[in-house]
Amino acid sequence: MSTVLLVDDNAAFVENFEEILSNEGYAVRSAGSCAAARAEAAAGFQVALVDVRLPDGDGVEFAAALKRAWPEAEIILLTGFASLESAQAAVRAGAWAYLTKPCATPDLLLAVGQARRHIDEKAELRKRAQQAERLATIGQLSASLSHEIKNPLNAAALQLSLLERRVRKLEVASQTTLLEPLGLVQHEIGRLNEMLEGFLQYARPRELYGRLVDAGTLAGHVIDLLRPQAEQLGVRLDARIAQGATLSGDASRLQQALLNLTLNAIQATPRGGWVRVEVTAGDLVEIRVEDNGPGVPEAMRERIFEPFFTTKAGGSGLGLPLSHAIALQHGGDLLVEQGAAGACFVMRLPASGLRS
Ligand SMILES: Nc1ncnc2c1ncn2[C@@H]1O[C@H](COP(=O)(O)OP(=O)(O)O)[C@@H](O)[C@H]1O
Ligand SMILES: [Mg+2]
Repeated sequence: MSTVLLVDDNAAFVENFEEILSNEGYAVRSAGSCAAARAEAAAGFQVALVDVRLPDGDGVEFAAALKRAWPEAEIILLTGFASLESAQAAVRAGAWAYLTKPCATPDLLLAVGQARRHIDEKAELRKRAQQAERLATIGQLSASLSHEIKNPLNAAALQLSLLERRVRKLEVASQTTLLEPLGLVQHEIGRLNEMLEGFLQYARPRELYGRLVDAGTLAGHVIDLLRPQAEQLGVRLDARIAQGATLSGDASRLQQALLNLTLNAIQATPRGGWVRVEVTAGDLVEIRVEDNGPGVPEAMRERIFEPFFTTKAGGSGLGLPLSHAIALQHGGDLLVEQGAAGACFVMRLPASGLRS
């Protein structure tokens, strides 16, 4: 719920606004003076309505001070009459808007609603910037680390295959006891290599190759690639693919993103379940990956996009943040929703037509 701080010394006016705003679902806190308003503001608020004339001070200066102390909040000035001066005062105070008294209910609600939305937009932008920064840091770190690890790992893999060849020359009886642990080590090295590839993906700069990509064809590839795995786990893999879902971007990265989503869905779905990949065309190309597994609990929906967050024993926690980054790089987005049965991941990307 949003809290509105109402600062005005006209009791009748305050009462009226309080009622209008509470009816719209806002929590309202009111004060008749700067001193009282300071105390009320300390408890937190999102939007403040401040009269320019207050008994113990200048409302414009007070509004400016509020804005400095709560930069995330938005201030709306209340003035006696519309004038150039009111507009200048609003600018001076860093206010979002000003309203002239007496003001009509729709005007009031419009101004407060807009301020409220503006706050949400700013928060969203901040979140994205933070995420981009975090990705960049992880990118640099993992790039150098991965390169350092890759060389000795490759050397180890090479020695292992040498060892394997020598073992295979021994008499059959002693081969099996040696080949089994050898295979396990090779498998683990393979996994490490895959993980390193994941890290390295972050490090690659935004060198997206903007070619025309058919999302349907891409989805078809991913399904072909994962079909054996799905069958092995007893999960039905369906596709509903629209024609003409073209976008411009980097096919291999988009495929990687879709592969991550589909693999996650297959892994989350119990034997006998299903996973459906759906591609629809429009101004936005929409790619949905839905499953009938347990879904993603509400409380976990933000966290799953954080790098290294995983609930799997052997998980890397990189699939989703990577896919999210790829969607953002293509001017789109990736969200998780509650599907009809389980989880539903939705990637929306601008169709190629919009881009030219
Ligand atoms: N389709 C899904 N259903 C339920 N949970 C999922 C699904 N996809 C992802 N998750 C959750 O998100 C987490 C992070 O996924 P991801 O970034 O791909 O890393 P990883 O697969 O290595 O765990 C998973 O560990 C899982 O808890
Ligand atoms: Mg994954």
